[in-house]
Amino acid sequence: MSYFSGRSSKIAGTGKYLPGRVMTNFDFEKILDTNDEWIVERTGIKKRHFVEKGQQCSDLAYFAALEALKDAKISASEIDMILVGTNSPESMFPSVASKIQDRLGAKRAGAMDIHAGCTASLSAMAVGVSGIASGMWNNVLVVGAEAFGEILDWSDRGTCILMGDGAGACVLTVSDEDGPCFVSSKFISDGSKHDILAYASAREGEPKTFQMKGHEVFKYVNKELPPFISSFCEQSGILPEQVDLWVLHQANTRIIDSVFKRVGISTERTLLNLERYGNTSAASIMIALDESMKAGLIKSGQRICFIAFGAGMTIGGMLYEA
Ligand code: COA
Repeated sequence: MSYFSGRSSKIAGTGKYLPGRVMTNFDFEKILDTNDEWIVERTGIKKRHFVEKGQQCSDLAYFAALEALKDAKISASEIDMILVGTNSPESMFPSVASKIQDRLGAKRAGAMDIHAGCTASLSAMAVGVSGIASGMWNNVLVVGAEAFGEILDWSDRGTCILMGDGAGACVLTVSDEDGPCFVSSKFISDGSKHDILAYASAREGEPKTFQMKGHEVFKYVNKELPPFISSFCEQSGILPEQVDLWVLHQANTRIIDSVFKRVGISTERTLLNLERYGNTSAASIMIALDESMKAGLIKSGQRICFIAFGAGMTIGGMLYEA
């Protein structure tokens, strides 16, 4: 765990974009041996969005970024760095960040993608906050974007029903001394579990797809996340019940319910959108942030705790005073 020092930063604006092709659980019933009741009971998901033909990860990232810039009332030319958290870029290189840098007209911005499973965009946010704290950057655009449609195994009922495509974004900027600020962050990784959630071949010689040992992921998160949350709060000098709003990676309602129960947190203190979007991986925490902001759930002076977890395995937390 570490406290941020140096210049404070604040969230100046947020945005999101969901592509237009909607797939409900009933649509999955037509192509797989599954049913709406099973999916809702095990995951909380009712529908999710997928990219239209020809749409790519950078298209989703671009639209979410445009909305965040407009919301922040900051022009693209004022952005110093663009950080994109993603696990499904259309190319390993160039980065999604570079593609949107050009398309947005962010003429003096640097650009990089960050890969860290579903923790990727929260990791990008921590890098952005650190860059502002050190004086390196003044305005940072952070995006989480995923276009999984192409890499899902559509015959694997244990994985494809969980995921969805989408993008969320926020603009970070220098804050006043007594204004909003990021207080602390904690990031951990257990690479010994790298094979339970991976872009890999199911069998030798087969093309790579999204592979997940669902039950092992479920067990890992349920075991590791409650002590992570408790220790992050304790090390940040607060109790979990002193957090006003939790902005969470939307993986699975069952996971969120059981983790919150074990830490003693009420699920009333978080926004859940899994039912509508499924698990959008690195995009999910940024979409949840945008929806929490626009619903007026984040008020001045409140404590906001961000928690993400995913492939690696990785877990991350950040504490923000709005
Ligand atoms: N519809 C119907 N049955 C399904 C199914 C589906 N979509 N997917 C799996 N099943 C079946 C399995 O084949 C298995 O059948 P069997 O007993 O005949 O072998 C049965 O349901 C139980 O499978 P299991 O994998 O043990 O189910 P589960 O209770 O663990 O639920 C997940 C599966 C994927 C919902 C659950 O493991 C999970 O949520 N994991 C975490 C996923 C996650 O959040 N990943 C992202 C982290 S960032």
